[in-house]
Amino acid sequence: MASLAASLDRLGTETAFEVLARAKALEASGRRVIHLEIGEPDFETPAHIVEAGMKALRDGHTHYCPAAGLPVLREACAEHLSRHRGLAIDPGRVLVAPGAKPFLFFGVLATCDPGDEVIYPNPGFPIYESVIRWAGATPVPLPIVEERGFAFSADDLAERLSPRTKLVILNSPANPTGGIVDRELNVEIARVLAGHDCWIVSDEVYAEMLYDAEHATVASHEGLLERTILLDGFSKTFAMTGWRLGYAALPAPLVEPITRLMINSVSCTAPAVQLAGVAALTGPRDEVDLMLAEFRRRRDAVVAGLNELPGVSCVVPRGAFYAFPNVSGTGLAAKELADRLLDEAGVAVLAGTAFGEYGEGYLRLSYANSLENIEQALASMRSLLEEPVPV
Ligand SMILES: Cc1ncc(COP(=O)(O)O)c(C=O)c1O
Repeated sequence: MASLAASLDRLGTETAFEVLARAKALEASGRRVIHLEIGEPDFETPAHIVEAGMKALRDGHTHYCPAAGLPVLREACAEHLSRHRGLAIDPGRVLVAPGAKPFLFFGVLATCDPGDEVIYPNPGFPIYESVIRWAGATPVPLPIVEERGFAFSADDLAERLSPRTKLVILNSPANPTGGIVDRELNVEIARVLAGHDCWIVSDEVYAEMLYDAEHATVASHEGLLERTILLDGFSKTFAMTGWRLGYAALPAPLVEPITRLMINSVSCTAPAVQLAGVAALTGPRDEVDLMLAEFRRRRDAVVAGLNELPGVSCVVPRGAFYAFPNVSGTGLAAKELADRLLDEAGVAVLAGTAFGEYGEGYLRLSYANSLENIEQALASMRSLLEEPVPV
């Protein structure tokens, strides 16, 4: 048999999907598993959005459409970003894709060559490092540290910038930590980046999932919108993970190349899905608000419960729907603990190391599950952690 491409060795993956598959296999064998591994809201997509998508299909929006996205959605996205982020965004610079993820992939491919360096958060969304390596660029991890409330300092960033830095990836609120870049840090980051000629990816898919905090984007600073790929999507805010719909405001020189990458790969994004997206951005927000209120309740429960477990401590996440407890006091490596929690306690979580080497000593729990299941998961974790250590 012919060999596979050597470049595949450089392509990583998202462990959440692998743990989900293992958890499903356990369930198929009759075991009960509580799912705290996968990063998607457990709520249904609001009914008016579903209806808009179905109507679009019935109305015949079943054909190819412009690769860049339907003008009506590009305009709605520009208007939404302008209102929510306080930025003046031209709809011509907004592109639509099947999810926010393609903008990470295409954004890195369109800007980086072998030998270029890319600074990215670690622990961070695993696709960042995977795509950087795939492009042949050099990943330069920016440690995200608990002592700073799961953030970093502007000096940490400045120290990592080099003449070879081509791209800096930022993510706030962050997966997997729930940490944020607050207004102050945002100003300092902008000051550091203003002095360095590089592209920026600002991954803001959790921007509307914040607790007691305001969103701050680096793109709001003088001259930075012009070199920032500001990406957002519908998966998290509107519980639309399976629809596959995302968008980005791009620097003008990247609009044509990224549209071309889209034509080479997905052709376009399903038009009926895009029309559902228009309904999401322009329709009522009550279900989104209810969802966020419920996430806040669960966040408080999960953090309180984790802090009562032996060897575990957890800072309060400021956004998204993840808790990132420090489990170093259990004496177990993160991966070993995550494996044992699944196999022995029926609780599926991710090891912090699934998000990079700086995730050692932590677990990621997604609290996109019912309060009842969260309580049960915490009780099962307690039983496992209280087991006497075998001699
Ligand atoms: C930080 C971050 N960026 C991007 C994405 C991709 O989202 P989408 O479903 O829109 O492709 C995710 C999904 O988990 C994420 O956590």
